[in-house]
Amino acid sequence: MPQIVVLDTGGQYCHLITRKIRELGVYSEIRPSETPASELRDAKGIVISGGPSSVYEPGSPDVDPAIFATGPAVLGICYGQQLIAKHLGGKVEPGEHGEYGMAWLDPVNQAPIFKGISGRQQIWMSHRDTVTAAPPGFTLLGRTETCPIAAIGDEHRRVYGVQFHPEVVHTERGRQVLHNFLFDVCGCSQDWSPREQAKRIEDEIRRVAAGRSVFFFVSGGVDSTVAFTLCLRALGPERVRALYVDTGLMREGETEFVRGVFESLGQGLFSVEDARDRFVVALAGVIDPEQKRHIIGEMFVQVQEQILESGHYLDQNWILGQGTIYPDTIESGGTAKADLIKTHHNRVAGIQKLIAENRIVEPLHLLYKDEVREVGQELGLPNELLHRHPFPGPGLAIRCLCAASESPLEPSGDGWIIPVRSVGVQGDSRSYRPIFLLTGAIEQQDRATQIINQDRRINRVVALAGSHVQPCEMRVRPSSITAARLNRLRAADVVVRRLCHESGFESCVWQFPVILLPVGTDARPDSVVLRPIHSVDGMTARSVPIPSALLDEMSEAILAIGGLAAVFCDLTHKPPGTIEWE
Ligand code: XMP
Repeated sequence: MPQIVVLDTGGQYCHLITRKIRELGVYSEIRPSETPASELRDAKGIVISGGPSSVYEPGSPDVDPAIFATGPAVLGICYGQQLIAKHLGGKVEPGEHGEYGMAWLDPVNQAPIFKGISGRQQIWMSHRDTVTAAPPGFTLLGRTETCPIAAIGDEHRRVYGVQFHPEVVHTERGRQVLHNFLFDVCGCSQDWSPREQAKRIEDEIRRVAAGRSVFFFVSGGVDSTVAFTLCLRALGPERVRALYVDTGLMREGETEFVRGVFESLGQGLFSVEDARDRFVVALAGVIDPEQKRHIIGEMFVQVQEQILESGHYLDQNWILGQGTIYPDTIESGGTAKADLIKTHHNRVAGIQKLIAENRIVEPLHLLYKDEVREVGQELGLPNELLHRHPFPGPGLAIRCLCAASESPLEPSGDGWIIPVRSVGVQGDSRSYRPIFLLTGAIEQQDRATQIINQDRRINRVVALAGSHVQPCEMRVRPSSITAARLNRLRAADVVVRRLCHESGFESCVWQFPVILLPVGTDARPDSVVLRPIHSVDGMTARSVPIPSALLDEMSEAILAIGGLAAVFCDLTHKPPGTIEWE
């Protein structure tokens, strides 16, 4: 039994909570929210996560009320606090506007979970409903201007609730709140360190492989490379093979980079399958992001299955290795009940079949990304690989936006509505909405959140960094994925990466997607969006302003590429935007 169990009520932040707890040295796992209290008795503490539902909605995720009466201490976060209020005699009501993003908490009473924290605190909120009456026996612990009951606690029962998200980095003292809950309220001891996992995982690989060999489809990312290296160590070079599918959706120079990494691990372990034409053909004419993801996932499986057959990997001597990490195992979006934000392609049908046949080894299935990096460091993998910016599996396809029909930009308030939709995440739910082009100063990240909170038509705000044409002359162009557009996007991405590296700006960002937008004129049909963000784990992110000299240089170099009308900067944090646009 893990010391701390996080009950999943469908929140985007469920994994983040678990990861933060582990970061504090306490092993924690996720369980379904309805897990009976009797199965949780041996945990030291229970955290109820935040989720997208309303507690009074029929069928919304619930918890066994007996958890409040037996053994483990309880911390309810966001929706978790609302469940506490509902079950213990308080009241929850829908808020008028909701509250998404930064807010200020005023602690109003002392309590063990706020030990060492005093005065006004920067916190992160993402909710619509609020607790309007605390349950009997609970003390009010904190409030914000718009949320009068932002933290409550019953010291006697050891049950606490917070409306804000302590697991998110933007809650400045969130780590302290969790630390207090683990060590002062629950009495946990430190029992977890990812660096000590390599040996345990290698034993596990030998057990699962049971004399068979393992082949991997590697991506060049941290996860598949670390997973492969663990298998190589566990089984030896005769029993592991790595295959890399060149989808044509990767960045410039990627295939060479991956080849270099694997050749340094050993000779004859690695090969490349060129499937570039197949992917472009399969994606022709497709506009919808989820459909793109689905097609790419299925095409991956088709290509993989052909490789498996022709390479004799389907006989009983081989099993499939995957770099799947903990967040990917529970479901896409976040967890089992999370509203589907984006489909992840490690779990499409073909792979499910191999899982069902028990012919799969996933050495990292209990680890989070940063834990994987620590294991990689332990294995001596190069920093250049371990600290690469994350790159999504579906590649540039989800950074190459498409549109069904032609339409002009529409003037609106301080800017323009660009009628191309992108994916966002608002209050734990997926949104798919047009973009707002804010005219005027480019460093207006905080205003972007305000604009999105007020205007339900949109979920993203961009500013113009440079252009050949004015917004009134630009039109959304009907377009889908073509080799020419991918090349255009790759060329812009190369410029951005080179200038980020030369200027040192790459160390100021966690990821810097470059997106191709079908907005322009006949002669210059596309535009480019720059999306530099800072994040710790990709669950939440802040849009990072680009220093103006660098931005000018970037936009000039990008506009020199043929076919591009304008360069935009994405000002949107996550939430309400997602990092990728699709
Ligand atoms: P979003 O766009 O959801 O992205 O804010 C969060 C992080 O996940 C990456 N991402 C993916 N990675 N397969 C992946 O391996 C995918 O389908 C996928 N979609 C998004 C994204 O680049 C960011 O780091």
